[in-house]
Amino acid sequence: MNNRPIGVFDSGLGGLTVLKELQKTLPNENFIYIGDTAHVPYGNKSKGSIYNFSKKIINYLNTHNIKLIVAACNTVSSTILSDIKRITPIPIIDVITPLGDFFSSQKIKKIGVIGTRNTIKSNFYNRLIKKYNSKSEIFSKACPMFVPIIESGLSNHKIARIMGEEYLEELINNNIDFLVLGCTHYPLLKPMLKQILPKNIAVVDSASVTAHYIQKHLLAKDSLSSNNAPGKIEIKITDNSTEFNKEAKLFFDNKLNDI
Ligand code: DGL
Repeated sequence: MNNRPIGVFDSGLGGLTVLKELQKTLPNENFIYIGDTAHVPYGNKSKGSIYNFSKKIINYLNTHNIKLIVAACNTVSSTILSDIKRITPIPIIDVITPLGDFFSSQKIKKIGVIGTRNTIKSNFYNRLIKKYNSKSEIFSKACPMFVPIIESGLSNHKIARIMGEEYLEELINNNIDFLVLGCTHYPLLKPMLKQILPKNIAVVDSASVTAHYIQKHLLAKDSLSSNNAPGKIEIKITDNSTEFNKEAKLFFDNKLNDI
């Protein structure tokens, strides 16, 4: 048993989609969430900058006696994971590797992957899918405007739909069977994406798979919390952002304390 908190971080709002699933799966754990609103978006930045931002966050989390770090960001997970694993003895779990089981359970399919420029350029998803499902065809598309739209509180605005139609056209024309949301921000666009996509295309994201993967990890290490009461969530951001506060509270049905 281990009652230390779990650290979760992302460039902004996206990691909250993972945090919400973590809280659902592990309700008695304590969480500290960092949204790097001073530097969002990570998706177009250099590896060096993403490493420096992540290192600062990890050093900060390390001062809070955490037992595990969740890199709730596909961009971090696909570009600098091995580098950040070297700077801390605390285990770091990413949000892409847990999808391995999902890909291996699928028949040969046409798979669409959307993500930030950095995630798509890294080919991390392509390698993972090929490892578990070598005959699948993969169609990737970078969607760099999605994160700024979400961080500006415009997920339900027509601008989100216009960009969605633009980005998804090519994937739909390639007759994909399912679409992987390779960015933790994108589940916030799910209602809009589902309106655009033909009904036969399933939408997949890694939040709930990652939460169950972490539960298994903690169980295997005998590190689950022994609390019987619901755990605490602390949310911190690196720059003041009213949009973040508003969107985060909405996303957690106004059940969050101060950010
Ligand atoms: N939510 C992140 C991801 O999963 C970061 C996106 C960004 O900051 O560009 O990639």
